[in-house]
Amino acid sequence: MTLQAAHKPADSSKTLYGGKGTRRITVHDIAGAKDRGEKWPMLTAYDAMIASVFDEAGIPVVLVGDSMGNAHLGYETTVPVTMDEIALLSAAVVRGTRRAMVVADLPFGSYQESPVQALRNATRLVKEAGVGAIKLEGGERSLAQTEQIVQAGIPVMSHLGLTPQSVNTMGYRVQGRGDEAAHRLLHDAKAAQEAGAFAVVLEMVPAQLAAEVTRSLQIPTIGIGAGPDTDAQVLVWTDMAGLTAGKVPRFTKQYADLRSTLGDAAKAFADDVVGGAFPQEEHTFH
Ligand code: KIV
Repeated sequence: MTLQAAHKPADSSKTLYGGKGTRRITVHDIAGAKDRGEKWPMLTAYDAMIASVFDEAGIPVVLVGDSMGNAHLGYETTVPVTMDEIALLSAAVVRGTRRAMVVADLPFGSYQESPVQALRNATRLVKEAGVGAIKLEGGERSLAQTEQIVQAGIPVMSHLGLTPQSVNTMGYRVQGRGDEAAHRLLHDAKAAQEAGAFAVVLEMVPAQLAAEVTRSLQIPTIGIGAGPDTDAQVLVWTDMAGLTAGKVPRFTKQYADLRSTLGDAAKAFADDVVGGAFPQEEHTFH
């Protein structure tokens, strides 16, 4: 039996997004949203200040994704991200949030070796950083790891479809196209659920397949480039807010233009300093 089947939220009138109260969202609240057919948003964050903005905005789940590699740490891919980096930034995100469930990625090389390695690193993120759950990539290939971590009492979010840690074999392409690939993805999703995962991220998967997976599972699906029919949607925050330089993936929608806003603010400050307009009397101590 899955964790979700065993427990129902105490008060199903509380919605994940826009719900009142400051107690942390749990996997049971997330299971309740699927039961109610409630859609919900997830955003990444990599520091306490940004996480606090999303928490105050009512985002119920914040992901400390290994997308921090590209979005925050200046790497070209997620592959170089280390456990130390994830642990440090996850602790900051937990400190910046009061209500959101914080989920941290297990980075490349921190779980593939064995279920024992996976549990050791998942445990570190829960004890050291205080996260509520971990995420790992792969269906069938990560089942033993998922089972081991869930059995130890740590909720696991699975990540299927395009799995960026496999960029060197997979590239950045839509996954699950064609009957065989679609069948494999559906199988992986069911296997992840069976192993105890509480949710499944579907990245760059055809919308029809994502809808079928969503209908077939009791646990929620979280789409990114997977069409409109998943239970939840996730975006990398720097893409969502228009901070990312250059091209962003087609599945991203930019809800702000932070790159221009911040650049303009920096230029206005610089102009004031150079022209002697800052600081003024109100900024000055006597
Ligand atoms: O690392 C990440 O931010 C992710 C999301 C894109 C799902 O895995």
